[in-house]
Amino acid sequence: MVSSVPGGDASFTPSGPLRAVPGTRFADVRWVAETGSTNADLLALATAGRPEGTVLVADHQTAGRGRLGRVWTAPPGASILLSVLLRPDVGLEHAHALTTAVALSAIEACETVAGVRPGLKWPNDLVVAVPAADGAERKLAGVLAESVLAGRRFAAVVVGIGLNVNWPDDLPPEIADLAVALNHLTGGPVDRQKLVTALLVGLERRYAALLAPDGRMALRREEEAVSATLGRDVRVVRSHDELVGTVVGFEPDGALRLEVDTDVVVVPVGDVIHLRPGSSSVGAASPSGAPAPLPASGGQPEDPDPRSISAGKNHAG
Ligand code: BTN
Repeated sequence: MVSSVPGGDASFTPSGPLRAVPGTRFADVRWVAETGSTNADLLALATAGRPEGTVLVADHQTAGRGRLGRVWTAPPGASILLSVLLRPDVGLEHAHALTTAVALSAIEACETVAGVRPGLKWPNDLVVAVPAADGAERKLAGVLAESVLAGRRFAAVVVGIGLNVNWPDDLPPEIADLAVALNHLTGGPVDRQKLVTALLVGLERRYAALLAPDGRMALRREEEAVSATLGRDVRVVRSHDELVGTVVGFEPDGALRLEVDTDVVVVPVGDVIHLRPGSSSVGAASPSGAPAPLPASGGQPEDPDPRSISAGKNHAG
């Protein structure tokens, strides 16, 4: 078994053959049997000076982290639990684009390797409309970025993704209606190593685009093209209130543009619930009450505002 020891290389015992992805900056890929959290491990290595391009993949996490301080769980060997260490020389306004680059790369990998094309639920969940559930959307993956700051820029960003790949048919009751895995959609097991390789190849291209000002527009267009949220009627649960409206676009920094009655409200952070047609009247304030159910894996809502990062602190977002 492997446990995470901040900065300690000896703690990483590769259990898979993938060591590097040729032609990319991901030249140091460590695949371990178990750790606490791949994000936590890479943040520790980032603080210890590890260069950009280190990737950590775990078969199992004992303390997997989701957004908003939630726990991320998955059966051993059933998911891709992967984090990448990046050191982008960009301002904090590009935080959303960093997570989106990983989410878009995962979408492409799912399509290439498994023939499944998920949608992107704002800000960075992969969702699939499941035929067996009358087309209801279920969560396939979630992305969590955590950063170390140097003033108003990033010293390091660790972007982690949990992607449900080969899960048992019977999911725990608390997530049975909310989560899905690739094998549920393909009818057979999916090669996790091929998925990881495809994801990192795609991320190399998108990350390079993100670093170049004229490449960012292409990323935004791709985000809009695969968005499962754009144009939808949604309920947005914020820390202090709820809004119901129609998503009419995204701000340059990734915030949601929500049309509520005749106003457009910019929402940097919130839990988005896609409404099915006829399930709520758009424009009306939703009744106060509990936000969407929060499964342990596969369906957590969105992250805190990346712009609220305090200098020098690690940030979940
Ligand atoms: C979410 O809440 O939707 C984001 C979940 C992110 C989970 C992944 S699994 C790999 C990486 N390590 C962690 O501890 N969390 C992320």
